[in-house]
Amino acid sequence: DGAVPFFGEHQAGIVTPAQDRLHFAAFDVITKDRAKLVEMLREWTAAAARMTQGRDAGTLGAVGGQPEAPPDDTGEALGLPPSGLTLTIGFGRSLFRDAAGVDRFGIADRLPAALEALPHFPGDALRPEISDGDLCVQACANDPQVAVHAIRNLARIGFGVVSIRYSQLGFGRTSSTSRTQTTPRNLMGFKDGTRNMKLEDAELLREQLWARAEDGAAWMAGGSYLVTRRIRMTVETWDRTSLTEQEAIFGRDKGEGAPLGKAKEFDEPDFDAKGADGQPMIAKEAHIRLAHPDFNNGAHLLRRGYNFVDGTDGLGRLDAGLFFMAYQRDPRKQFVPVQRSLARADVLNEYIRHVSSGLWACPAGVTGDGDHWGRALF
Ligand code: HEM
Repeated sequence: DGAVPFFGEHQAGIVTPAQDRLHFAAFDVITKDRAKLVEMLREWTAAAARMTQGRDAGTLGAVGGQPEAPPDDTGEALGLPPSGLTLTIGFGRSLFRDAAGVDRFGIADRLPAALEALPHFPGDALRPEISDGDLCVQACANDPQVAVHAIRNLARIGFGVVSIRYSQLGFGRTSSTSRTQTTPRNLMGFKDGTRNMKLEDAELLREQLWARAEDGAAWMAGGSYLVTRRIRMTVETWDRTSLTEQEAIFGRDKGEGAPLGKAKEFDEPDFDAKGADGQPMIAKEAHIRLAHPDFNNGAHLLRRGYNFVDGTDGLGRLDAGLFFMAYQRDPRKQFVPVQRSLARADVLNEYIRHVSSGLWACPAGVTGDGDHWGRALF
């Protein structure tokens, strides 16, 4: 269970074949001191470079330092392999300008136009305390302990500079981001990630995943914008819905994952095909029709979400759903129009509720030892 290179043109954890586990954390910056923040980002980068290679967060390690001092690694990943760990950083809008418009760290002029606050969508039930944030780190790995260890150590290093605003564990990927992967299933039991942007789609990634200097924010060249949405599923209601209805909602069959009217998972959907009753095989309000690039001005997303179950809600129901994450070159042209069409008409809405939202500017990769997270920004 090997190591994914940390250094590179783009950050790892975006087109990296989606690992099985997630620990996502959003942070608030609690210092006003720009130098402290930059110094922490430098320390985070060094720790991330080490942890992704299966090493301790600090150079002395969990047990190699002075016995009188707290160790510079918390120790719970000792003896575990790198497990494909990737750590991906993102910057939120509030880092550039707070709610009152104050330029907290002298970077307001670098706020990318693409980081425009997401609009309110019909049906949104967002909880502010688990939305937004100044910074985020997406930790993905094939071992949950490795992902949790990484976030915990970053939080430890950031003591006094940042505090965790909220975090989310995910236990099963709901997307493939490479054609070498089989398509996993979400908690509604459907294959998810069939028609996703993938590592192998070089031309599409160039056009729709990576930001460019000419998009407006030069420091974001080679980066990508991440939208996170915690989407609660009312699985109890879903589980009392007939198979035919479930399949009609997505526009795909549940076993194979084929578009309705077709036989195989990767067959192209035919949105004009009509059944014996004269009705479209894929309903007008089916999820895969409303989300399809043909009906959204050609917009694609690189979805990289995870299943979650966070215990129960005290009302006899599981607190379960999909932690949706999607990367793209410009959310104003991609996530926003797609989510607008879904929020307006998707029959899936009866079974889901968006409760948290985040929008993040994830810069290009760290190129080597002299470079660090946020160097191009500050
Ligand atoms: C496709 C599930 C929310 C965008 C799909 C598919 C499933 C699915 C089963 C078909 C397989 C595939 O092509 O991947 C869900 C569930 C959701 C959810 C259970 C919520 C709990 C969203 C949201 C967006 C979105 C919020 C974006 C705003 C897409 C896109 C496709 C897709 C772009 C591919 C459409 C195509 O090109 O055929 N989703 N989805 N989904 N979904 Fe979702």
